[in-house]
Amino acid sequence: CSTDHLLERLYAKESLDSEEIVHLLGQLDQTSRRRLHALANQKRVFHYGTGVYLRGLIEFSNICKQNCMYCGIRSANNTASRYRLRPEEILDCCREGYELGYRTFVLQSGEDDWYTAEKLARLIADIKRRYSDVAVTLSIGERDDETYTRLFEAGADRFLLRHETASRRLYEALHPTMTFENRRDRLRALKAIGYQIGAGFMVGLPGQTLEDLAADLLYLKELNPDMIGIGPFLPHEATPLKDEPAGTLEDTLDMIALARLFVPRALIPATTAMGTAHPYGRELALQAGANVVMPNLSPLSVRPKYTLYNNKICTGDESAQCRFCLEQRIERAGFHVDMGRGDSLNGLAAP
Ligand code: SAM
Ligand code: FES
Repeated sequence: CSTDHLLERLYAKESLDSEEIVHLLGQLDQTSRRRLHALANQKRVFHYGTGVYLRGLIEFSNICKQNCMYCGIRSANNTASRYRLRPEEILDCCREGYELGYRTFVLQSGEDDWYTAEKLARLIADIKRRYSDVAVTLSIGERDDETYTRLFEAGADRFLLRHETASRRLYEALHPTMTFENRRDRLRALKAIGYQIGAGFMVGLPGQTLEDLAADLLYLKELNPDMIGIGPFLPHEATPLKDEPAGTLEDTLDMIALARLFVPRALIPATTAMGTAHPYGRELALQAGANVVMPNLSPLSVRPKYTLYNNKICTGDESAQCRFCLEQRIERAGFHVDMGRGDSLNGLAAP
């Protein structure tokens, strides 16, 4: 089956089987790549137009009890300079973000148990009380059902928990302190509670095959998440994977485009890792089907400490600078900024 034929079928049917995906990925050349990205962009414009949602990202703690092999803030990295923002400091970031026009705050951290369910619930309720028109997205890792429920009841709307890889073999090799089953079980639990959920994966992980990437797409298709985060694996110097090659921009763009075609109504960010992999990585991601950007709202003093991988961008820019720099970049790439809450289209009728 030719690449063109597979792409046309994918566009129409919004799925392919594993063998077809592997065949497609193995055959992609410059011309078919351009076609793939153009089809993904067309699909995104059909569902979302040319708007790009901005989310204010607050990296509130880099303290983590887990030990993911790729991650710069893993617990075994004793060269990391650890920090934890106090709830008042997080509220200050939200105030600044609200004034800059953000209507979604993404609270992200390592798995930091100082932030108990009670402390987090109070914080979320405080944010929602002050800013009734914002959405709160959590990205705090694995917690039990009771905690997830309590945070949802306190007002959290969305939850990002990448599945990281749909390959059990890779997952187990990369996550010595977590299990493949539990990751999937947590995503199911979040969905059942009522959160808009985000899953996603890294591209170019050491040992990752085309079959593994096909499994990622098919897992996403089955889970049907509201949001999908995809970025290249980028090595961090103080991790066991420090000498491994980074995932490539091209491969990651292809996976973003395929994710758009497999789960057309998902919100897909052009990630910071894409901007780190290439100076125009985020713009290229938007042109390949992404429709969200998450500028940093963390205080400048802690930015360089939230280092998941080497050479992370925007660690020295004021929040206002990030906001306007990205707006310009988005417009130059042919899109426009939408400062609305940007909720998931799941559950709404198609256009
Ligand atoms: N602890 C939370 C969790 O596990 O969902 C949120 C924070 S975690 C640092 C956020 C994401 O960063 C992970 O889901 C992972 O995909 C990504 N990440 C971590 N290390 C990375 C690396 N070296 N290269 C690319 N992405 C990385
Ligand atoms: Fe915990 Fe990366 S190992 S956030």
